[in-house]
Amino acid sequence: MKFVLLGAGQRGMIYARYAHQKGHAIAAVAEVDPVKREIAGKEFGIPEASCFGDAAELLAQPKMGDAAIIATMDRDHFGQAMPAMEKGYHLLLEKPISPVPEEVLAIEEKARETGRQVVVCHVLRYSPFFREIKRQLDSGAIGRILTVQHNENIGNFHMAHSFVRGNWRRSDTASPLIMQKSCHDMDLLVWLIGSECRQVASFGSLTYFKPENAPEGAALRCADCKLKEDCRFSAYKAYLPVMGAWPAAVLTEDQTEEGLREAIRTGPYGRCVYRCDNTVCDHQVTVLEFENGVTATFNLSGFTNRIARTLKIMGEDGELRANEYTNEIEITRFAPNGADQSESLLIHPALPTSGHGGGDGGIVEDFLSLLEGRQAEAASDIRYSVESHMMACSAEEARLTGAVVNIRDFRFRHGKKERV
Ligand SMILES: NC(=O)c1ccc[n+]([C@@H]2O[C@H](COP(=O)([O-])OP(=O)(O)OC[C@H]3O[C@@H](n4cnc5c(N)ncnc54)[C@H](O)[C@@H]3O)[C@@H](O)[C@H]2O)c1
Repeated sequence: MKFVLLGAGQRGMIYARYAHQKGHAIAAVAEVDPVKREIAGKEFGIPEASCFGDAAELLAQPKMGDAAIIATMDRDHFGQAMPAMEKGYHLLLEKPISPVPEEVLAIEEKARETGRQVVVCHVLRYSPFFREIKRQLDSGAIGRILTVQHNENIGNFHMAHSFVRGNWRRSDTASPLIMQKSCHDMDLLVWLIGSECRQVASFGSLTYFKPENAPEGAALRCADCKLKEDCRFSAYKAYLPVMGAWPAAVLTEDQTEEGLREAIRTGPYGRCVYRCDNTVCDHQVTVLEFENGVTATFNLSGFTNRIARTLKIMGEDGELRANEYTNEIEITRFAPNGADQSESLLIHPALPTSGHGGGDGGIVEDFLSLLEGRQAEAASDIRYSVESHMMACSAEEARLTGAVVNIRDFRFRHGKKERV
């Protein structure tokens, strides 16, 4: 297979590398940053004439491959996905499909109209951890699901890196937090519960990472701050110890101490976490009711130590508790009383061999199988992902208005032609 890569950043390089290592060609790249463009060009052996400075330039050329990997920023996806499908490319499309509901529905419609395969990077559907949870639920391990408690623990330093200082700090230039971080969680809930969502309510705000919480005397940048030795958000503490790895790798291609110190001195990741131009929530709670009657609570929080999802799924016959960090799934069948031993099973799913709990490699494999005709459908086909995006958009509307939002009604208001 031949791929073209739009956006040779963190995500794009992961998928392209995986496909390349499996023997597939990266025939062309579009990347605005000349350093990243050159790195991708060299690594994948792309001729200079097929290295473009902008996705639009690449898409203006005759078709150069079977599929496009679209891994640019959230608000660029629509403007690139639509012409790419018209040109004949199948898509491996980063999430969010788009933060704008009308655009999400239009991309899905275009995929149907043109017959293109569009796989959305809900990588967690492919991780051994979540696959095992799904397998247990489908095999009836806890009986019919009644209610779910799901937590997305962002991790405090990750919150500061991505959603306070970084690319996804503003909902107007990127996406609201519930869309950016948790269209994955909405997707997991729909998939695990096995039903579409009927309605949502949501509450949350940006409470902590604001100027009024800055310690007295804090400077605008860590480089100039006399409090940096004692501040846990000091960029020097966040990035220097993990030079060469995420999240330090996001700051600059120059992963030397000099390079990082310069990026901290001058770049966005050296700003004081209390004095950035961030707008997204740092905590948000969403309550959901599904069409099959299952209820769920979803707690999205930047105030956790670990970066890991934790779930409790409660069924008629037992409960399933899962912790991504410890890689443990515990299934307990209910006992008739407090004295009897309840029946418990502790499962440790296979350890991941790629990022996102194994999901990064899994999704590329699935996309390849689909393109090569080895399977009829991908687990993360866009027609499934649209639901998670409607839920995330509805939750944000619910948060902003205080209303309970009906998902079908939301979809109808944002472009679905017929009420289904
Ligand atoms: N699936 C997941 O779990 C997951 C995880 C993180 C990020 N993401 C999503 O992946 C996307 C990319 O995130 P990232 O972390 O790789 O960001 P990134 O900033 O590392 O990469 C984006 C790249 O696109 C390039 N770019 C911007 N405009 C362009 C244009 N017009 N033409 C060509 N290149 C252009 C940028 O220079 C940058 O290198 C985002 O939409 C993000 O939400 C998904």
